[in-house]
Amino acid sequence: MQKILAIESSCDETACALINEKLEIETSVVTSQIDVHARFGGVIPEVASRMHVEQISVIIKEALKGHSMDEVTAVAYTIGPGLIGSLHIGAIAAKSLAYFYQKPLIGVHHLKGHIFVNELVDKLEYPLLALVVSGGHTELVYMEDDQHFKILGTTLDDAIGEAFDKVARIMDFGYPGGPIIDRLAKEGQASYKLPHPKVEGYNFSFSGLKNACLTLSNKLKEKNEAIRKEDFARSFEEVALGHLLEKVKRVLNDYEVKHVLIAGGVAANSRLRELMKENITKQKLTLPPLKYCTDNATMIGVAAFKELQYGHFVDLNASSKSSLSIETC
Ligand code: KG4
Ligand code: ZN
Repeated sequence: MQKILAIESSCDETACALINEKLEIETSVVTSQIDVHARFGGVIPEVASRMHVEQISVIIKEALKGHSMDEVTAVAYTIGPGLIGSLHIGAIAAKSLAYFYQKPLIGVHHLKGHIFVNELVDKLEYPLLALVVSGGHTELVYMEDDQHFKILGTTLDDAIGEAFDKVARIMDFGYPGGPIIDRLAKEGQASYKLPHPKVEGYNFSFSGLKNACLTLSNKLKEKNEAIRKEDFARSFEEVALGHLLEKVKRVLNDYEVKHVLIAGGVAANSRLRELMKENITKQKLTLPPLKYCTDNATMIGVAAFKELQYGHFVDLNASSKSSLSIETC
């Protein structure tokens, strides 16, 4: 049976997984650096790289516990996009293993990982629309098949996850903001007025909303008025998620789409999942399992099987890329 050893290190999670060709997860280990970065209110790239260095061999050893490299058909790693220092650590580990054990090497686009991890729960049907929403990305990706990716829309400024994190920081809610806002919003009402972003076509913008949150927070502080955290979180979420949904609907109106899925860290958001279920009724809809929304190596392994199937390998000279379009990778 073919097996892939996959490594993910593009941001602040160090992860390794062993996946077989039936897409069964034999092992999957993830360590997050969140607690360390929380002290700074965001990911510090240099700190992230150093922590990957400390963690990577421990994580790989753990993922290989009870297994041996003889079982492994190929070694896969995230080639980009991401923090360059962090990407390098995963790349060096993967290349060393591939070289030493004479295994083929597969470089996986991070967003393909987020998209294809949905295959763990559903067969993907094409044409497919993927709403990729994470700390670094907000993209509407149209796929005619599993090899062609067309970005119909993207953010003109902040990514949606970044907006969640920055708004949470403005409000002193803590880090990372996404899960905290998600939890608070469940108890709140959308009673604060915030502006709906207005952007042409299928693109997104979140910086105006973020600035409006800052202005509102300053106004409330000036007036010595206590902020109703839950209501604020809900108000922000309704506008941010409404913006996503509006663009998804626009694409569905203009394109033939059989299957819609969401992908990336923000796909864990309970309100977004609810809104997708309520609104996507004519197409097949897949929501990724919660533990595979945020960064993990299982998703890199699943996407790597696609690359293996098409014979897409990289050599030991392959360079990691901090920015890398899914259309050309
Ligand atoms: O995919 P991911 O782990 O890393 C990137 O590739 O960027 O996504 C991390 C992002 C963070 O911005 C985090 O705040 C957000 O996903 N996030 C959430 C939730 N869980 C994680 N945002 C909203 N609601 C959540 N439940
Ligand atoms: Zn990610």
